Amino acid sequence: MCGIVAYIGQKEAYPILIKGLKRLEYRGYDSAGIALLDQGELKIYKKQGKVAILEEFAADKNCEGKVGIGHTRWATHGLPNDTNSHPHFSENKDIALIHNGIIENYNVLKEELEHRGHKFISETDTEVLVHLIDDIRKREKVSLAEAVRMALLSVTGAYAIVVISKDNPNQLVAARKSSPLVVGIGKENEYYLASDATPIVEYTKQVVYLNDEEIAVVDLNEGFKIVHLSNQEKTPYVQQLEMNLEALEKGGFEHFMLKEIFEQPRSIHDCFRGRLNVEQGWVSLGGLKEYEQKLVNAERIVMVACGTSWHACLVGEYLIEDLARINVEVEYASEFRYRNPIIGEDDIVIAVSQSGETADTLAALELAKSKGATILGICNVVGSSISRITDAGSYTHAGPEIGVASTKAFTAQVTILTLLTLFLAHKKGTISQSAFQSMLCDLEAIPDQVKRILENDPKIKEISAIYKDVRNALYLGRGSSFPVALEGALKLKEISYIHAEGYPAAEMKHGPIALIDEEMPVVVIATKGTSYEKVVSNIQEVKARKGRIIAIVTEGDRQVKELADHVIEIPETNQYLVPLLATIPLQLLSYHISVMRGCNVDQPRNLAKSVTVE
Ligand code: G6P
Repeated sequence: MCGIVAYIGQKEAYPILIKGLKRLEYRGYDSAGIALLDQGELKIYKKQGKVAILEEFAADKNCEGKVGIGHTRWATHGLPNDTNSHPHFSENKDIALIHNGIIENYNVLKEELEHRGHKFISETDTEVLVHLIDDIRKREKVSLAEAVRMALLSVTGAYAIVVISKDNPNQLVAARKSSPLVVGIGKENEYYLASDATPIVEYTKQVVYLNDEEIAVVDLNEGFKIVHLSNQEKTPYVQQLEMNLEALEKGGFEHFMLKEIFEQPRSIHDCFRGRLNVEQGWVSLGGLKEYEQKLVNAERIVMVACGTSWHACLVGEYLIEDLARINVEVEYASEFRYRNPIIGEDDIVIAVSQSGETADTLAALELAKSKGATILGICNVVGSSISRITDAGSYTHAGPEIGVASTKAFTAQVTILTLLTLFLAHKKGTISQSAFQSMLCDLEAIPDQVKRILENDPKIKEISAIYKDVRNALYLGRGSSFPVALEGALKLKEISYIHAEGYPAAEMKHGPIALIDEEMPVVVIATKGTSYEKVVSNIQEVKARKGRIIAIVTEGDRQVKELADHVIEIPETNQYLVPLLATIPLQLLSYHISVMRGCNVDQPRNLAKSVTVE
């Protein structure tokens, strides 16, 4: 949700900013802009639309300067037009600022500033902040950094900002609260600032993740310092980035999403590597060690998440309840945080989040923490806010996910939740040793089985071609395949703009069945397992209404094959592991349909990868 990047040092800033914005574009693509400071002149170039449009616009301009800031926007306040794009100038164009987040009290601040003669040209909350900083600097005659600090003291809301000023050509000032910000320390007196490490990794691996309410001042003469909003100086904690550049490139694939779908044999394997041992018969999640006993003794686990991650939690609920016999409640983070939930010291609240930055999930965790609960995280992005505020957690190790529609992060989340289930069930003795052992074996075989499903891609593409023009689709599943149905429907909605709904197969007759006719494709997860026969009956019900069936079946299935219009086979596995396999063809189906419809697969309209505002 908005990407910010900034550079100060010995190199030309423009190419670094443009490249950085392209890497961050998954965070928002309503508009893009940069500000460059060159020989005492501060210039802003900004355009509605993608970074490529800004690049085209800037092509014949003199984009020079060794200090600059860049922004890619996901609009919150004001339309996504050129004027509302970032950076924003102060009254006399002395200062420019980029911002990710929302200034909630911007109206009050704006009125005060207008009283003092400030004129605003955009509808954004951000412009108010840059005017406020400038106003304080002039009125109080303080340094830029101090003006930023004082301004932020009167701000309510979320922000990651970077400020550049004509009067401080050797300096950038940045700050964060509830929106992420990373400082990269370059090799030759140079600094990079960004929303995440992706624009930085190419230049340096030395990074500092800012904490909430911290202000970073990078100065070519005085070096790097961090000051808390309370004016206390902090020692920067320099970390080594464990990310490589190839992970951020498409690697020969047409889209990031396709690359990420095809990465799943590796990402699932990376997720369980070192965490299970079939020969010795154990499962261990190192990051949760300290809380193992608390988890084993827990009477209830609450999971909070949004979007695809919420679907992963639902799979986790089926697994943990059934195998480890612990009561699990899965909550939309946005609902949980505002409904005065009953949470106490005995509760364990687990947040599941790819980005580790989702505003609602973070707020839900903070609420749970304030009520004394133990808070744990399952995140993909190392060093992200959720991973830092939680008591403990497990990384999914799926690698950077760039496509806005989540794929490999989902299967990695489900893998962690499966490991957690196995660990708990084993410790509590709610699973027999032989069932535990055989599930470990089956889990270890999943990456190869995913590979086999991916080999079936040409067939899935053919099926996609038949259904690419439909207007609606229904996805059905039972048990832990119900969340898979939800996830399949979400993928189709997100990237191809086809209305799709996921339903528990048996619920179909309480409503959706009314929609079924010869136009309606119904995707059914009908793999072998306890509810197989019941799903077959549901398929019959659809057929009786002339619905068209695309069924995900276990290899060798004959019964469903006779009923369905199309079947996609997946290898046989333990029924608890089916979500890890059944999800793959649904991802490919949406991917191909989206491409065939000419949609922007990696950056679907109105969506952002990391939703850092409410
Ligand atoms: C956005 C993304 C989804 C993601 C959701 C939750 O809506 O487009 O793909 O599932 O946020 O994000 P998180 O990073 O918390 O998993």
